[in-house]
Amino acid sequence: MILREHLGPFDTWGDWRGQLTQLEATCLPGEAWDEAQWQQFSLNSLKTATAWMGQKLVGFLVWQPLGPGEAEVIKVGVDPQTRRVGVAKMLLNHLEQSTAPNGRVLLEVRANNTEANGLYQTQGYQKIGVRKSYYRHPVDDALLFEKQT
Ligand SMILES: CC(C)(COP(=O)(O)OP(=O)(O)OC[C@H]1O[C@@H](n2cnc3c(N)ncnc32)[C@H](O)[C@@H]1OP(=O)(O)O)[C@@H](O)C(=O)NCCC(=O)NCCS
Repeated sequence: MILREHLGPFDTWGDWRGQLTQLEATCLPGEAWDEAQWQQFSLNSLKTATAWMGQKLVGFLVWQPLGPGEAEVIKVGVDPQTRRVGVAKMLLNHLEQSTAPNGRVLLEVRANNTEANGLYQTQGYQKIGVRKSYYRHPVDDALLFEKQT
C-alpha cells in the first residue's frame, strides 16, 4: 500500500478524482462533497492524503492544519472491501507525523459511529468533551477527541 499527499487545487490532482468522490459517497453517504466543494476546500488550505493498492484508491483522509503542530481531522473513509487491514491507521499516522509532530490532533465524531470511535480510541485519542445533539439527519451527539502527538 502506498500513501500520497495532495497539494494545490483539486482540479489539478489528476484523473483519479472521480474515484475519490465516489469512495467518499460510499463511505459518507449524505455528507460527501461535490467537485465544487473539493475545489473550494483545497484552495482553503485543507490537506488530503490518499491510500492506494496498485491503481485502486482504498482510503482518504482530510485534515485542517490549525497552527504550528496542530491539526483537526475533517473526514476519513476506507473502501468497505479494504477495512480492518490498517488503512485508516496508516493515514492517521501520516497526518500526525507530517503536520502535528510534538503537538496535538483534534477531531469530532458522531457518538453512534462505532467504527470511527473504535479507530480513534485504539489510536490513542482521548475524549475531551461532548456537544449534545450537535449533528442532524439523524440527530446525534458529537464526541470531541484529542491526541497529544
Ligand atoms: C472508520 C474507518 C475509516 C476505519 O477504517 P479502517 O481502515 O477499517 O480502520 P483500520 O483498519 O485502520 O483500524 C484500526 C483500528 O481501529 C479500530 N476499528 C476499526 N474499525 C472498527 C470497527 N468497525 N469496530 C470497532 N473498532 C474498529 C480497531 O481497533 C482497528 O484495529 P484492529 O483491526 O487491529 O482491531 C472505516 O470504517 C470507514 O471508512 N467508515 C465509514 C466512514 C466513517 O465513518 N468515517 C469517520 C467519520 S468522518
